Amino acid sequence: MGDERIVSPESHRHGERDGHLRPQSLADYIGQTSVKERLDIFIQAALARHDALDHVLLYGPPGLGKTTLAHIIANELGVGIRFTSGPAIDRPGDLASILTNLEDREVLFIDEIHRLSRPVEEVLYPAMEDFALDLVLGKGPGARTVRLELPHFTLVGATTRAGMLTAPLRDRFGVITHLDFYSPDDLTRIVERTASVLGLGVMPDAAYEVAKRSRGTPRIANRLLRRLRDFAEVRGDGIVSLPVASEGLALLEVDPHGLDAVDRRILQAMADRYGGGPVGLETLAAGAGEEPGTVEDVYEPFLLQQGYIQRTQRGRVLATRGYQALGLSAPAAQTTWTDSRSEENL
Ligand code: ADE
Repeated sequence: MGDERIVSPESHRHGERDGHLRPQSLADYIGQTSVKERLDIFIQAALARHDALDHVLLYGPPGLGKTTLAHIIANELGVGIRFTSGPAIDRPGDLASILTNLEDREVLFIDEIHRLSRPVEEVLYPAMEDFALDLVLGKGPGARTVRLELPHFTLVGATTRAGMLTAPLRDRFGVITHLDFYSPDDLTRIVERTASVLGLGVMPDAAYEVAKRSRGTPRIANRLLRRLRDFAEVRGDGIVSLPVASEGLALLEVDPHGLDAVDRRILQAMADRYGGGPVGLETLAAGAGEEPGTVEDVYEPFLLQQGYIQRTQRGRVLATRGYQALGLSAPAAQTTWTDSRSEENL
């Protein structure tokens, strides 16, 4: 069963203790300005009404701060948070017991909410809509349904793929918010903030270098920073300067564009094996030696956003910028793929 009160679930999953690095309030949270502004209004309104905040769906690529925001929402509301995830809730009864144990106005955070099973999801509908749990007593023709009242809680759901949520579940969220990749400037401030929490000296140009090479993702920026701290302590004087950052990042196989080894494998596979595409997701993932889900959720969003690859109706194609990142020049026919056949990253 996945109902645990744990302070920093991510630290378990990612093997780094991030809990103490997390900002605790919206004021401390850097970037995602419009998301923060909206949440702030809804939180203030809920507080003024002494009511639970409406259910919130946060979606976007991993590492952008969905879990952090859920903790902040609970903090700002002055209530507790229960943390669980879609795959951790096996049976409807597991969710029922989580729901009946919630306190009034508490936050229930369900990570990877798109992975809830259908029977579990069905328990969630009346819980979200009417704060009610429908229990079926007995079997066959004599079975009765009893409706149990639940505390007014706030569900915060997180997913990397809003498109995989069923319509009835998506429709029950009052606030649906997308998290975008961070700008290098915002990431620089995050790197500087993290360094100061860690008591680590980082030169401004080094902080900017880390920020530029972090795929727009705070989790990656913070991870690189910790590795550079190791590098600075062992090879240097403990301070992350620009030369330390450049050498350390090269050692970590993060290239000047901020692409890591897997990004480059994906681009290289497209260029070498599939003639620049179009290539389907499964084929591409096999060529790069990764799971299709990992390519789609973790790698592709950034490569698309930065224009290294494009998605067309017939598959993924390597864009001019993708060839350039590999030190290759795009074939002349490449221009075909910058026409209207390219699709948005949905
Ligand atoms: N650490 C990780 N993400 C952050 C953010 N958005 N703001 C401040 N610190 C962070």
